[in-house]
Amino acid sequence: MLLAAMKYVKAIYPGTFDPLTNGHLDLIERGSKIVDELVVAILSNADKGTPLFTVGERIEMIAEAIAVQGFANVTVTTFDGLLVEFARAQGAKAVLRGIRAISDYEYEFPMAMMNRRLSPNLETLFMMPAEQYTYVSSRLIKGVFNLGGDVSELVPPLVVQRLKAKGTRKI
Ligand SMILES: Nc1ncnc2c1ncn2[C@@H]1O[C@H](COP(=O)(O)OP(=O)(O)O)[C@@H](O)[C@H]1O
Ligand SMILES: [Mg+2]
Repeated sequence: MLLAAMKYVKAIYPGTFDPLTNGHLDLIERGSKIVDELVVAILSNADKGTPLFTVGERIEMIAEAIAVQGFANVTVTTFDGLLVEFARAQGAKAVLRGIRAISDYEYEFPMAMMNRRLSPNLETLFMMPAEQYTYVSSRLIKGVFNLGGDVSELVPPLVVQRLKAKGTRKI
């Protein structure tokens, strides 16, 4: 029992999720299978320009997708400030991030190293999505949708509905 408790791994999957894609969901599924508890955490102070969806809308979409998929050990929340501080407050041992291509690695590696410097015991886990999602990004989804392209196989149906419901389309 004590040993089991010591091995308990809670991980944070941080990101912008504007909006959630099947690539994110693929990673959530893979992550949820190897950790005990996975917290999807939307960074609310992201320095990425104006998001299409509010944090509240993004939480709703992720919560709904988690429920549809039946991921019992996955929750969603929001945070701002330093990821390492949030992880510490949550009692998380790991951060989950996705690698689609070398370009992701170039961005992720210094961030992981900086997080390690700030919080030496917090590990960053990198996972690759299924091949068909290696080119999927929230930004590309928004861009293609705005131009009338079909993105229905790349995001959950509930996200397609939300994209359609957005009156003003912005990239
Ligand atoms: N299609 C995908 N397959 C695998 N991982 C992905 C995919 N899209 C995004 N990710 C990963 O999910 C995490 C969150 O991505 P994103 O929502 O773009 O937020 P961020 O602003 O942190 O990049 C990142 O680690 C990113 O590499
Ligand atoms: Mg990104």
